[in-house]
Amino acid sequence: MSMRVNMHYADLKDSYLFSSIAHKVSAYQQTHPDADIIRLGIGDVTLPLVPAVVEEMGRAVGEMGRKESFHGYGPEQGYDFLRQAIQGYYGSRQIRLDMDEIFVGDGAKSDLGNILDLFDQENRVLVPDPVYPVYVDTNVMAGRSVAFMNATEDNGFLPLPEPGLKADLIYLCSPNNPTGAVYTREGLKAWVDFALNQGALILFDAAYEAFISDPLLPRSIYEIEGARGCAIEFSSFSKTAGFTGVRCGYTVVPHELVFDGISLNKMWLRRQTTKFNGVSYVVQRAAAAVFTQRGQQEIASSLAYYRENAKTIAQALEKMGIDYTGGKNSPYIWMKCPNGMTSWDFFDHLLSQAHVVGTPGAGFGANGEGFFRLTAFGDQAKTRQAVARLQALLSER
Ligand code: MLT
Repeated sequence: MSMRVNMHYADLKDSYLFSSIAHKVSAYQQTHPDADIIRLGIGDVTLPLVPAVVEEMGRAVGEMGRKESFHGYGPEQGYDFLRQAIQGYYGSRQIRLDMDEIFVGDGAKSDLGNILDLFDQENRVLVPDPVYPVYVDTNVMAGRSVAFMNATEDNGFLPLPEPGLKADLIYLCSPNNPTGAVYTREGLKAWVDFALNQGALILFDAAYEAFISDPLLPRSIYEIEGARGCAIEFSSFSKTAGFTGVRCGYTVVPHELVFDGISLNKMWLRRQTTKFNGVSYVVQRAAAAVFTQRGQQEIASSLAYYRENAKTIAQALEKMGIDYTGGKNSPYIWMKCPNGMTSWDFFDHLLSQAHVVGTPGAGFGANGEGFFRLTAFGDQAKTRQAVARLQALLSER
């Protein structure tokens, strides 16, 4: 008998959503070399790293070039200076974390995928539909079947636990990717109570928390009483501080998470020390600079820049009478496709007629059909241009 592959990969869609889109766009560009394409598809940032981060990164590079300050392997869980800064960030919002509950990693996507090493195959997985494809694909790769909960216009794209619902692992993302919807405290409390009741675990993706400006909306699940007993939180510097290409994030695993008599914190530490050698010293120094007073001021102006884009897109949609969610405490705008178009038809139409790229809602799940996601992470002038093209195209209706 020869080597066998993981046949669960055969259950995946052919390619990852954002790779498919990138291929489609590059094929179009090849046949239309003069087309000035504006990309508001993948949520990739366009502003450079802020000066506080760049300076600290440069200083750390200098340290690496001198024998007396060189760093080799670092602590797998992250350097103390960064974990202390993260602890302080949560502390400023009255959330107490122990240092050893914080794990620095190379981004939320990796940790969201890797965390599945900790869980038994038989767990019932529950994800909203539409959803960030990583939650589904990583479970499919591991051979787990996934149940979906409907996120629709009727529930404001924020599903709540329904009577009779059973689940062991529940994925929540707020502000949501792709819909931009944000859970209220009451909404998250309903999930925390449900998880505590069922002995379930919530995997809470907080990658977009920095976009919440409404003080009444929760930015961390640990703002909800009881969450330390039922939730792991994933966060990232990607969207907050422009680290999509630098790579750094963090995951919080509270000590209260004990299942089958085993601490998830200890398991995750065991997993990380075995399979991961930590994030580079230079990157962790850069990440720590985000939490300095100057770093916070500088990233606040980057966030304001993206918020302005969200406003530009949202106002245009309002003017055109197109329904949408998000864009207020979120960098994503989730719009209804005009004229009852399917989301891939609208993608093709917008690309070929206006040279604007967005993400078809159907790529995020069945309930995404008929919707389309635009990101606010683009360049401001280009975003305005894209919006003008969208308005011109749709006024031809
Ligand atoms: C997205 O566009 O949904 C994100 O950029 C994907 C990611 O953060 O991995």
